[in-house]
Amino acid sequence: MPTIVILGASSGFGAAAARAFARAGYDIVGVHLDRRAAQPQVDALVAELEACGRAVHFFNQNAADDASRAEIVAQVVQRCGPGGVHGLLHSLAFGSLAPFVGGRQVTRKQLEMTLDVMGSSLVYWAQDLVAAGCLADGGRVWAMTSAGSHMVWPGYGPVSAAKAVLEAACRQLAVELAPRGITTNAILAGVTDTPALRKIPGHEKLVASALARNPGGRLTTPEDVADALVLLAGPGARWINGNVLRVDGGEDVSG
Ligand SMILES: NC(=O)c1ccc[n+]([C@@H]2O[C@H](COP(=O)([O-])OP(=O)(O)OC[C@H]3O[C@@H](n4cnc5c(N)ncnc54)[C@H](O)[C@@H]3O)[C@@H](O)[C@H]2O)c1
Repeated sequence: MPTIVILGASSGFGAAAARAFARAGYDIVGVHLDRRAAQPQVDALVAELEACGRAVHFFNQNAADDASRAEIVAQVVQRCGPGGVHGLLHSLAFGSLAPFVGGRQVTRKQLEMTLDVMGSSLVYWAQDLVAAGCLADGGRVWAMTSAGSHMVWPGYGPVSAAKAVLEAACRQLAVELAPRGITTNAILAGVTDTPALRKIPGHEKLVASALARNPGGRLTTPEDVADALVLLAGPGARWINGNVLRVDGGEDVSG
């Protein structure tokens, strides 16, 4: 069965996507970075996915580490074979939430780490999966961006910069991979109650503002995005390429 590789598979959008894709008949390779205390939850998720009758392999490793990526891609090659990866989802949340200026201002190390994990790492995964022949004709690449890519939220500067990198990477990959029959799109989710959101300073205000503006009258859920991704994985989405697709119920365009 075709496989979906999910970076950030243990929580939030990544976990919801893993569930939705497993139910839709895809095998799942998940990469996540969690402390040992979170392992029982990850084991429960893996068991739930396996109960759908799918092959599931989760790796608790740093997706931004070159050696870890090489090791995981080698296993993907072995398990999935040529053309065996139908989709790559980048849904990593691990960045600095410090201001650019002031007492706790972001350091070069923090900023570069954030840009790498939440931005450029998409490029290296796409490179390796394409070079290995796993991601091929008909394949999909998706990356999670946010309204914080074009708005200023307190403390979100490093992540906002990473979203700019991520969206640029998606545009470039969309054009460079199109001749191979692979499409790339950034997915702009609305404000969604996940562990990553709760780490943003003043996230309560983001939630209140999203609730006030969203014409659907509620926050986005991880399942809203997961369902959209399953649609985008289908053959009817083959010509959707190079977009920033809002999956937010209209929140971003609502004044
Ligand atoms: N929550 C929101 O409101 C929202 C809105 C739009 C976009 N996004 C974006 O969606 C993406 C996912 O966010 P989420 O809210 O689902 O977060 P989350 O905290 O629920 O999940 C993050 C996942 O990333 C994994 N992870 C973090 N660093 C890693 C690393 N170095 N290597 C491997 N795995 C790593 C974690 O283990 C976890 O599985 C992020 O890029 C985030 O910016 C979030």
